[in-house]
Amino acid sequence: MSKIVIFGTGDIARLAHFYFTSDSNHHVVAFTVDAAHLKNTQFCGLPVVDFKRVEKLYPPRTYHMFVALSYTQLNRLRARKYLAAKNKGYRLVNYISSLATVFKNVQIGDNCFILEDNTLQPFVKIGNDVTLWSGNHIGHDTQIENHCFVSSQVVVSGFCQVKPYCFLGVNSTIHNGIVIAPQTIVGAGAVITENTVEKGVYVPPRSIRLSKSSDKIKL
Ligand SMILES: CC(C)(COP(=O)(O)OP(=O)(O)OC[C@H]1O[C@@H](n2cnc3c(N)ncnc32)[C@H](O)[C@@H]1OP(=O)(O)O)[C@@H](O)C(=O)NCCC(=O)NCCS
Repeated sequence: MSKIVIFGTGDIARLAHFYFTSDSNHHVVAFTVDAAHLKNTQFCGLPVVDFKRVEKLYPPRTYHMFVALSYTQLNRLRARKYLAAKNKGYRLVNYISSLATVFKNVQIGDNCFILEDNTLQPFVKIGNDVTLWSGNHIGHDTQIENHCFVSSQVVVSGFCQVKPYCFLGVNSTIHNGIVIAPQTIVGAGAVITENTVEKGVYVPPRSIRLSKSSDKIKL
């Protein structure tokens, strides 16, 4: 069992505390945030300390860290804090749900947050600081590179490359062999059939509302 400090005190940090506590070998001992966000000295019943001083109170030779932030600024905020924690000498740990299916030859970097019902097929490579929220299918031989956020129920088919800093919205689908360029945003429900362009934003057709109300429809 390793002792860890979680960076952040938002919803992702609260969930990370829950997942690490209920389903991992890591023991959360404290939280850390930048001084500007240090509003309370306790979170989830544990101390919250200034990130500037964290290595004095929880030295990296004894404690590891997990950066629990979402996709703010298209993952760049999380990436900055990930690098800052590494520069202080911390080892960044992963959370990989016991309810995920991860084949033995799958490679996973550090600071990854892989929730329940993800399927990572053989020969998949996941970079550093990647979030796979619940229920995604990551097809065989696909690579998801550093600092990406994959929402829920996303299908990334086989032989895809998802380049750094991408966001894949809920229920989106990536055809096999596609390259998702760096900093692409794939909106909820979009279907990607060709390589994307860097910083491209892709959305599906929207549902339209019929002019009649639901009580006028015989079901
Ligand atoms: C693609 C996405 C990121 C765009 O975000 P956004 O810019 O904040 O969204 P907005 O609703 O303000 O849309 C911006 C513009 O794009 C248009 N637009 C958005 N989605 C569209 C769609 N599917 N079809 C056509 N136009 C669309 C909006 O009408 C709006 O146009 P306007 O500027 O002329 O008013 C967002 O629609 C999305 O899919 N987010 C992912 C949700 C998700 O997966 N959440 C899970 C998180 S864990």
